[in-house]
Amino acid sequence: MRKVLILGGAGYIGSVTSAQFKDRGYIPIVVDNLSQGSKNIVKDVKLYRLDINKENLQYVFDKEGSIDGIIHFAGLIQVGESMKDPSLYIRSNICTGVDILDFMKENNIKNIVFSSSAGVYGNPRRVPIKEGDIKKPINVYGFTKYSYEKILKFYDQIFRIKSVSLRYFNAAGASDKYKIGETHKKETHLIPLIIKSILNNNEFTVYGNTYDTKDGSCIRDYIHVNDLANAHVLALEYLISNKKSNIFNLGANKGYSIFEIIREVEKVTGEKVNFSIGDKREGDPSILIADFSKAKNTLLWEPKYSITDIISSAYSYHKNYEN
Ligand SMILES: NC(=O)c1ccc[n+]([C@@H]2O[C@H](COP(=O)([O-])OP(=O)(O)OC[C@H]3O[C@@H](n4cnc5c(N)ncnc54)[C@H](O)[C@@H]3O)[C@@H](O)[C@H]2O)c1
Repeated sequence: MRKVLILGGAGYIGSVTSAQFKDRGYIPIVVDNLSQGSKNIVKDVKLYRLDINKENLQYVFDKEGSIDGIIHFAGLIQVGESMKDPSLYIRSNICTGVDILDFMKENNIKNIVFSSSAGVYGNPRRVPIKEGDIKKPINVYGFTKYSYEKILKFYDQIFRIKSVSLRYFNAAGASDKYKIGETHKKETHLIPLIIKSILNNNEFTVYGNTYDTKDGSCIRDYIHVNDLANAHVLALEYLISNKKSNIFNLGANKGYSIFEIIREVEKVTGEKVNFSIGDKREGDPSILIADFSKAKNTLLWEPKYSITDIISSAYSYHKNYEN
């Protein structure tokens, strides 16, 4: 059976992905320091609670033996925080990533799937965005993702380490099967914040209503965590059979404004959302929508879940199962 090392596999997307790898006949092994994640969502998978660095990865490798690929989720994810503490983001998202690549080089591990982000594009000139469109990150978080993609390119050129960078748009929703949903230690994402405002009876803040969009709020493309997890399995299989690096957008090619999401949450839950309008946040592009046709044509991937599925699964998770 193929063994995969899942770095950051105790987080939201990594834990669902580990579970999917297991269901599809792989042996996933998670390395996570639990700084953001939780061991409760690492279901029936071996977990090493360690910081990711060369020495610790070597320790895991010496215990586990051969590894067919690395799935790299471990990083910090808050755009706002990245604009307050850039050095923290550069160290966590770039320097840690270089340690992973040096560890791979020294142990002859050839495949890595990397969690990149739509943040690499900055404010796009057109939507839906294609992978070849201009990349001009407008926040440090997006800069770290774009920089690491470029580092991956050189590690391929120089050391023949093959990578797939998956540029996720907005991950959302919960896995009914594994009972895992979005619970970041400090939640900054839209759908869980709106749902929690209903469940906890507090007010939700819309960050700005003067963007250049149809209703003034930001427009985003939401993608269900189960669809994302599936893409990681396909990406690793692509690397193993094609031995070629590549980059793919993962979104649904559908944009929803914040006000549209509020209305959809109200429709799914039958509850009224209590919200106010706050200031814009630094580093928020007005509109991000993915063209995912490259992933569709090459990985044979496409999203199966609608925005209603995303919101209803998230609502059920936060209401019934949140750890
Ligand atoms: N959630 C989204 O909408 C989204 C969108 C685009 C890209 N991404 C990327 O996907 C990845 C996963 O996102 P998520 O939402 O699951 O985040 P998350 O915070 O839930 O998961 C990240 C995990 O990595 C671990 N980690 C971080 N740094 C570590 C280190 N140095 N050593 C060991 N463990 C470490 C954390 O403890 C956490 O469990 C991130 O790289 C993020 O940038 C997420």
